[in-house]
Amino acid sequence: MQIKELLKQSPSEQEVTVKGWVRTKRGQAAVTFIAINDGSTIHNIQAVAEGGAIDEETLKLVSTGACVAITGKLIASMGSGQAVEVKAEKIVVYGTADETFPMQPKKHSMEFLREKAHLRFRTNTFGAIFRIRHALAYAVHKYYNDNGFFYLHTPIITASDAEGAGEMFHVTNFDMEKPPKTEDGSIDYSQDFFGRQTSLTVSGQLEGELGALALSKIYTFGPTFRAENSNTTRHLAEFWMIEPEVAFYELEDNMALAEDFVQYVIKYALENCADDLAFLEKRLLEEEKNKPQNERSELSLLEKLKFVVENKFERLTYTEAIEILVRSKPHKEKKFQYPVEWGIDLQSEHERYLVEKHFKKPVILTNYPKDIKAFYMKQDEDGKTVRAMDVLFPGIGEIIGGSQREDDYEKLLARTKEVGIDPENIWWYLETRKFGSAPHAGFGLGFERLVLFVTGMTNIRDVIPFPRTPKSAEF
Ligand code: 4AD
Ligand code: MG
Repeated sequence: MQIKELLKQSPSEQEVTVKGWVRTKRGQAAVTFIAINDGSTIHNIQAVAEGGAIDEETLKLVSTGACVAITGKLIASMGSGQAVEVKAEKIVVYGTADETFPMQPKKHSMEFLREKAHLRFRTNTFGAIFRIRHALAYAVHKYYNDNGFFYLHTPIITASDAEGAGEMFHVTNFDMEKPPKTEDGSIDYSQDFFGRQTSLTVSGQLEGELGALALSKIYTFGPTFRAENSNTTRHLAEFWMIEPEVAFYELEDNMALAEDFVQYVIKYALENCADDLAFLEKRLLEEEKNKPQNERSELSLLEKLKFVVENKFERLTYTEAIEILVRSKPHKEKKFQYPVEWGIDLQSEHERYLVEKHFKKPVILTNYPKDIKAFYMKQDEDGKTVRAMDVLFPGIGEIIGGSQREDDYEKLLARTKEVGIDPENIWWYLETRKFGSAPHAGFGLGFERLVLFVTGMTNIRDVIPFPRTPKSAEF
């Protein structure tokens, strides 16, 4: 039985077997207390070995990090902190761990744990994070399933750059030493595996749209890849994205969906991950003790999550946001590193000012200048802006990016050429605007940014099991 279930049982001396990893061992020959964790819950179960019950040789092998199966009677615990414990009668040691086991019970830095990503799952912090990550992923599927969406598996290998940012990892099986060349000396991709140049996808959106223009409501949830050289606490080269796409939705519907969806999954975590969140809330408090007063959060982790679930997100246009920023104190006092004027791509310092200082709640910014957004966004009547929306979160910045899509064939074709995309490459995408085109909209939620927000962690490398970042692909 999993420890999570065992801890809920009422003790009546029933025989049980606990399998898991030893977190700590204390006590002497007379009585030994062994704390075991199997990852099913943040809580350990205690096994008590009274003198003579277990032979000394075996007991010696039971040390922090060892994997064991302990059989004995489930009894009421005399100690505080747990209702039941196991009175050990038999111990099988599956795997020993000597004192070089790195996850000894003491404080480790996050950097140290990142270098030990193969073992960090065995700490309370990472156990909590990955149980919450799972719960959030489940809640995503539940939300969309319950609301009539279909899960669409879009390809990982693709020949189109949806975002047009040129940040793609190439996929080839050429011999890199001597790829075949054309007469003019350039690489001859027609001889490559797919007969053309291909990459790992940056987004499932374009293919998702094709599905939505038939199934009406779809979503994708898969890995996406970006070769952007951003060494920040918010960027990964490989991350997971959830992308709903809905026929007949306009920008306002899209915003309502984004808000409802994010609130739902966070509420799901609050209701289903209470123990792990309570642990992470304490962890965050500890971590923030070392920070100066003005950098500490005003709200605790749980207060922050509840706040987001219970309050409507602020909605305003990009143009209104620029006006607020121009009038802001940090702008007047030249405290922003980057200049503020209409047309700029907002920097994270600007986004954080709006969310954390000005509105003090999640913000949805809309109608961005078309020149800083992707080619597929629907153009506004003014010819200057597009029906884009970014959802900005406290401590995170942009968590969602989306838009209403351009559904007018001529306008989309013109924009494609304007930004330098060869229409031939996305003929299939363009063609959906020729046959039964429909207004539609969608967005992408960066899954790790959501997990970052919910767990209160500060570095995105700590909320994905094995982070892929510039110069790092260990494990
Ligand atoms: O704003 P982005 O680039 O939008 C798209 O890819 C659209 N195709 C989505 C759509 O409309 N279907 O990315 C969406 C989200 C961002 O808001 C951010 O949360 C996350 O993906 N994201 C990243 N997360 C981690 N590491 C990175 N390098 C990320 N780049 C984007
Ligand atoms: Mg974006």
